[in-house]
Amino acid sequence: MELYIDTANLDEIKQAAELGVLDGVTTNPSLIAKEKVDYTRRLAEICEVVKGPVSAEVIAVDYEGMMREGLERSKIASNIVVKLPSTVEGLRACKALSDQGIRTNLTLCFQPLQALMVAKAGAFLVSPFIGRLDDVGEEGMGLIRQIRQIYDNYGYRTKLLAASIRHPMHMVECALAGADVATVPFSVIKSMMNHPLTDVGLKKFVEDYRKAFGG
Ligand code: E4P
Repeated sequence: MELYIDTANLDEIKQAAELGVLDGVTTNPSLIAKEKVDYTRRLAEICEVVKGPVSAEVIAVDYEGMMREGLERSKIASNIVVKLPSTVEGLRACKALSDQGIRTNLTLCFQPLQALMVAKAGAFLVSPFIGRLDDVGEEGMGLIRQIRQIYDNYGYRTKLLAASIRHPMHMVECALAGADVATVPFSVIKSMMNHPLTDVGLKKFVEDYRKAFGG
């Protein structure tokens, strides 16, 4: 399973990269706006730190605008993946960019047929949003399971990227459901190696060693 970090904060990205298990980065307009930095420059900075796929979202909502912005974003660095909305216009842009060899991430996916359509259009990644579905009383994880089954039924090669992950149990369930990638906030990445019994056990081992052998 691949692990991406879902942030535009450079410090967080650097700290996550130092763990040695980071495969990529996803950003969105809200995450970059929060950093109060130049949009394109920040994407370039991220691509310097992480050599895996870095998702860069378009702002346009029409096909021509998405194509223009998508082509611009793709020139920032060779590891940029153009992030497009899962709309009819986004689908057209996905097909056109994919035909040119530009990788795309179709975001804001909330139902399985969006995932089916973008896979047919050649998307590199599809991003179903688990947390936002949970927020409105739907089972986000159910969507991950449906997309997994559809992709496996037909052998689609689009990678299932579980997004809008809010807590460690989302991660566990995504891994069990067979998500190819999960994009995760730094707070959740940090919690993924935590267990209170690990801390208690480690403290006891160190204490017992010191009692017996000194130091
Ligand atoms: C994914 O690419 C999105 O940036 C992200 O996962 C959205 O998460 P949120 O619903 O917590 O904002």
